[in-house]
Amino acid sequence: MNNIIISPSILSADFVNLERDIKRIEEAGADWVHIDVMDGHFVPNITIGIPVVKAIKRITKLPLDVHLMIENPEKYIGAFAKAGADIITIHYEACEENLKENIDLIKACNVKVGVSIKPKTSQERLYPYLKDIDLALVMTVEPGFGGQEFLHHCAMKIPKIKELVNDDFIIQVDGGINNITSKICTSLGANSLVAGSYIYGSSDIKSSINSLKNMS
Ligand code: DX5
Ligand code: ZN
Repeated sequence: MNNIIISPSILSADFVNLERDIKRIEEAGADWVHIDVMDGHFVPNITIGIPVVKAIKRITKLPLDVHLMIENPEKYIGAFAKAGADIITIHYEACEENLKENIDLIKACNVKVGVSIKPKTSQERLYPYLKDIDLALVMTVEPGFGGQEFLHHCAMKIPKIKELVNDDFIIQVDGGINNITSKICTSLGANSLVAGSYIYGSSDIKSSINSLKNMS
C-alpha cells in the first residue's frame, strides 16, 4: 500500500528558494524530485533546463525525475542525463516517428525511461513500447501549467495499462493530483504520483505527502 512513489513537482516551488524547497520535500518523505522542462513549442510555456538540473543534482540525493515537454528530445537527452537525471520521460506526441530510437538513447545513458501521453492520446499508443520502458506517465491535465483541474476520464487509461505490465512497472500520473484524486489513481493501479500545487501550496508539506501515500 505504501510503495507509492511520490514525486513533488518543483514547478510550484519558490525558484528564489529552490534549495530550501527541495530540502523541504526531502525531509517530508518525497521519493523523487519531478522537474518539468518546457520549451515553448511542445507546450505553450517555458520553464527550466539543463543548468538547473545540474544545480539541483548538487543539493539533493533524491532521484531526479525529468519530464521533458519538448520537441526533438533526441537533441537534449544526453545533456539531461549528464546533468544528473535519473529518470527521463519523453512525450509520445513529441516524437512518434522516432520514439523507439529515443527510448534506446535514454537507456544507453543508463537512465530509467518513461513515455508520457497527453489527455487526448489513447493508451493504446504506448502498448508496443511497454516492454522497452520503465514508466508510463498518464497526464491528467493538458501539459504546460501547474494548478489545473484533474481530468477524470484520463484516469481510466491506468487500469488498461496495468493489466499489461508487471508489478515493478511504474504507472505515474501528473496533473491535478491532491488527497482525493490521488486515491482515484492509486485504486486504479497508479504507483507514482506527481503533485505540484497540492504539495507546495500546503502549509504542512509532510502531511500533504503522507496523505498522498495513504498514511493519513
Ligand atoms: C504540467 C506538469 C506538472 C505540473 C503539475 O504540465 O507536467 O508536473 O507541475 O502541477 P499540479 O500538481 O499543480 O497540477
Ligand atoms: Zn510534469
